[in-house]
Amino acid sequence: MKRFTTRTALSKYLQKERSAGKKIGFVATMGALHAGHLSLIDLAKEKAGVVVASIFVNPTQFNDPKDLERYPRPIEQDIAKLEQAGCDVLFNPPVEEMYAEGENWHIDLKGLDTVLEGNQRPGHYQGVTQIVKKLFDVVGPDFAFFGQKDYQQFLVIREMVKTFGLKTQLVMCPIVRENDGLAMSSRNIHLSDTDRQHALALSQVLRSAKTGFESKPAQAVKEQAIAELSNSPGIDLQYFEICDGETLKPVSEKNAKSIVALVAARIGNIRLIDNIILK
Ligand code: PAF
Repeated sequence: MKRFTTRTALSKYLQKERSAGKKIGFVATMGALHAGHLSLIDLAKEKAGVVVASIFVNPTQFNDPKDLERYPRPIEQDIAKLEQAGCDVLFNPPVEEMYAEGENWHIDLKGLDTVLEGNQRPGHYQGVTQIVKKLFDVVGPDFAFFGQKDYQQFLVIREMVKTFGLKTQLVMCPIVRENDGLAMSSRNIHLSDTDRQHALALSQVLRSAKTGFESKPAQAVKEQAIAELSNSPGIDLQYFEICDGETLKPVSEKNAKSIVALVAARIGNIRLIDNIILK
């Protein structure tokens, strides 16, 4: 695997690959890689001749400095995992390579960035789209792969791609779960054994919501999920919503083209999110 830490060296290298007719597949990460990330690499390998992964813990998407500080950074293990997964290129720049001092700009994300996660973490998706735009500018990917785990992130990135008229095709990849249902997340390693047990309620409630949605109105499904989570030990529920899968507006009818249930909760001092596509 080739490794680059500067934008110039990476784009020069990829220019050569592009001239040789290869398509570029891109997986953006913040490291602390798990099977969910590696599934994105696998899908990228199926679609593209060169697979580029980035590892960059993006400061602008953290609104809690403590969260940024304690974000895991096991770089040597990550490199080994990427090598083993057959990733071709790693881009692992320092912060100064990606941001100028005092840089501050925003993209109009049509309100997709201020609901749900955006409401709980103001500015988070502005930070995400800033860095993804910068990474896309360097990598120029034909395909970019993002997990369904952060469903809202996929929608804001899609809006950013539309706004700038980028040619990158975005691919949403299924959530990878542990055997007991817990959605894989780099934050899971911080859960104590008890908290990890408590966290299972999130995926369990989402699964029952999917079954309930076949026969019950959206509002009833939502109320039942909230009641179950509120009675679950160790869960500090932040939201459970049933939303239009394109606009993220809460739905009460079932006629939207796609519908998704999204949940966020604090378990101990770890915030977890999860979701399930209902339609
Ligand atoms: O999903 C993530 O890990 C991050 O939000 C991303 C897309 C790599 C941007 O920093």
